[in-house]
Amino acid sequence: MTRIIFYERSTDASLWLHDLARALPEADLREWQPGDTAPADYAIVWRAPRELFANRPDLKAVFNLGAGVDAILDVERKEPGTLPPNAKLVRLEDSGMAQQMVEYAMHAVLRYMRRLDEYEALQREGRWEKLRAHPRERFTVGVLGLGVLGTEVARALTTLGVPVRGFSRSAKQIAGVSTYAGEAQFDAFLDGVQVLINLLPHTPDTEGMLNRRLFAKLAHGAYLVNLARGAHLVDDDLLGALDSGQIAAATLDVFHTEPLPKDHPFWQAPRVTITPHVSAETLREESVEQIARKISALERGESISGIVDMTRGY
Ligand code: NAP
Ligand code: GLV
Repeated sequence: MTRIIFYERSTDASLWLHDLARALPEADLREWQPGDTAPADYAIVWRAPRELFANRPDLKAVFNLGAGVDAILDVERKEPGTLPPNAKLVRLEDSGMAQQMVEYAMHAVLRYMRRLDEYEALQREGRWEKLRAHPRERFTVGVLGLGVLGTEVARALTTLGVPVRGFSRSAKQIAGVSTYAGEAQFDAFLDGVQVLINLLPHTPDTEGMLNRRLFAKLAHGAYLVNLARGAHLVDDDLLGALDSGQIAAATLDVFHTEPLPKDHPFWQAPRVTITPHVSAETLREESVEQIARKISALERGESISGIVDMTRGY
């Protein structure tokens, strides 16, 4: 019998266990509790403590209940050997997140292109004032990261009639999107971008990538939309770029510390829009279906997608 341990503390674990038991009726499924060292074949986790992984030579795979595996890899980097050496680390692929990201990114781009954020401010001051909308043909949107989520966001943006660019490590082809790959093409990608949307994974290579040097390469008065991780952004550099007008406004869904501390200057920055890490949430039904399908495939000896490359870090 397939033995599965489950750990997730931010939502109601009983709902997950119920749905997983239905999707994998043959499995022996239990919620992991401190002190539980009984053998397991699979772990399904979000931000699990180190102890959960200790002494588990039988573990075949760890399923991460999110697309980003940075938290789990950070623990492994700081304390090598945390993850059982033979266990694959598997992330969620889309599972309903791409559509949410598309909705969020399209809203942010339209809000800035039509200057709706400025009308919100004018309304608060009781001012009736017409602003010139940005001409769409020059409102270039750049998507950093053309993976599962970035590709869908870039594709959707092409329907707005704005020039869309995308940047990734390896070369890609996406209809209607100008694609750039690797460090050598990074400056060309950034040059003249009016809205930069970040959908990169957080790795040692990408940490702090949204900094003053990068902002200086965008169009003057560009907009930043950070949907990936707070660790990508150098907060003080963004505040400086907002002050100078190099960045006109920013929409931030992710932060170095979450919840964002009450005294963080972003709360008071007039043109910063904050949401509490909700641009694409893990959906239980879709995630259970995907994980159950992958566990069944692994049990049949088949290969699966979504296995994290530990050297790349995503
Ligand atoms: P993914 O499929 O792994 O895609 C990652 C993309 O980033 C790939 O195109 C990859 O290039 C590119 N990339 C990685 N390192 C790079 C580098 N150093 N330079 C240039 N490009 C690089 O990931 P995903 O599923 O789209 O998710 C992306 C991230 O979104 C996650 O890691 C997570 O942090 C974040 N996220 C946030 C939320 C939220 O609610 N805010 C929800 C879900 C996910 P290649 O294609 O060449 O490999
Ligand atoms: C959420 O941030 C995720 O990585 O899925």
